[in-house]
Order: sequence, then structure tokens, then C-alpha cells
Amino acid sequence: MNIEQQIKAVVRDVNDFPKPGIVFKDITPILRDPKLCDAIAEAYVQRLNGIKIDEVAAIESRGFLFGMMIAHKLLVPFVPIRKKGKLPCKTVQQSYNLEYGEAIIEVHEDGIEAGKNVLIHDDLLATGGTVEAAAKLVEKLGANVAAISFLVELDFLKGRDKLLHHSEHIISLAN
Ligand code: PRP
Ligand code: ADE
Repeated sequence: MNIEQQIKAVVRDVNDFPKPGIVFKDITPILRDPKLCDAIAEAYVQRLNGIKIDEVAAIESRGFLFGMMIAHKLLVPFVPIRKKGKLPCKTVQQSYNLEYGEAIIEVHEDGIEAGKNVLIHDDLLATGGTVEAAAKLVEKLGANVAAISFLVELDFLKGRDKLLHHSEHIISLAN
């Protein structure tokens, strides 16, 4: 099985979570398979070959799981983008809508170096609201969105359309 088939084989669809009508993609079974986790991180490194990445910024909470693995493989800094109120130092903020609600994310003002090429990573692309907000944070700090990566993309929600003007490199391993 290729990596997309392996991911699809274990991700679970959970109906009506967290709200009626939502089919929630549960990625937790992936985390029980360390070889698959390593293969996923390697797959990102291969897809990113030739794209200069200086830092990996990942979105709380599920984005942290593979974001840190990718940063470790690339040997570049990891930057946590967190939900409002969790980061202790001075932050920049961005509000956004997602498939089942609205929220604010933030990043430390000194968390990303201006001029650097940043990979934004998250587990799942749905409407694209979350990652679009993350891209705005990266740009507010004067850095460049070099690439955006996901494990799973829900094609039918057309989230990719919101991201194309932030980066030409959008990588999803399964859809
Ligand atoms: C989920 C998911 C993405 C976002 C995608 O996060 O991990 O970050 O929704 O939705 P969108 O493309 O419509 O913006 P959630 O806010 O549920 O947080 P979690 O990772 O902490 O579970
Ligand atoms: N985030 C937004 N929509 C989601 C979905 N359908 N499954 C898992 N995470 C999500």
C-alpha cells in the first residue's frame, strides 16, 4: 500500500462529531503505528524536496503531532501556533471560522523570524479557515509561507482555494 492508502485504511470516520451533520476524521489510530508515523514524516520530507524551509509552524493541537516530526527530520525550528490565551509572551492574533465554529489563534511575536521561509502544517484541511489564519500570522511577522502541508484534505469543502494566494506549494497526503 502507498502512504495515501495506509492513511485511509486507519483514519476513522465518526458521524455527528463534534456537531450533528459533521463527519469527523479521527486520526488517532495513525498514532498507534510508529512505523506509519515515521513513513508519513518521511513522505513530507520527500514532497518538500527542493523547497527551502527554515521553520515549521504547526497549529494546535493535532497539527503539533506531525509538525514536530517534520521539524525534527528537517532539523529546523518548530513554532507552535496556539488557540487564544495559551501562549505566555507577547503575541499576534488572528480570528477565523472553521467547519464547526469560530476561534482565534496566536503566535509569539518573536516566534517566527522575519524573512524566513515557513512550512505551515496541520492535520486536516476542511474549509481552510484555520490555515488561512495561520498564513496571515506568518505574513504579519514578515515571514514567507513557503509551503503548507496536511495529512488529510476534505476536497469537497474547497479549502485549498483560500490558500493558493499564500503559497504555491500545498501538500496533502490523503483526500
Ligand atoms: C481542526 C483541524 C484543523 C481545522 C480544520 O482543528 O485540526 O486545525 O479543524 O478546519 P478548517 O479547515 O475548516 O479551518 P480543531 O479546531 O478542531 O482543533 P484540534 O486540532 O485542537 O482538535
Ligand atoms: N476539522 C474540521 N473539520 C474536520 C473534520 N471533518 N474532521 C476532523 N477534523 C476536522
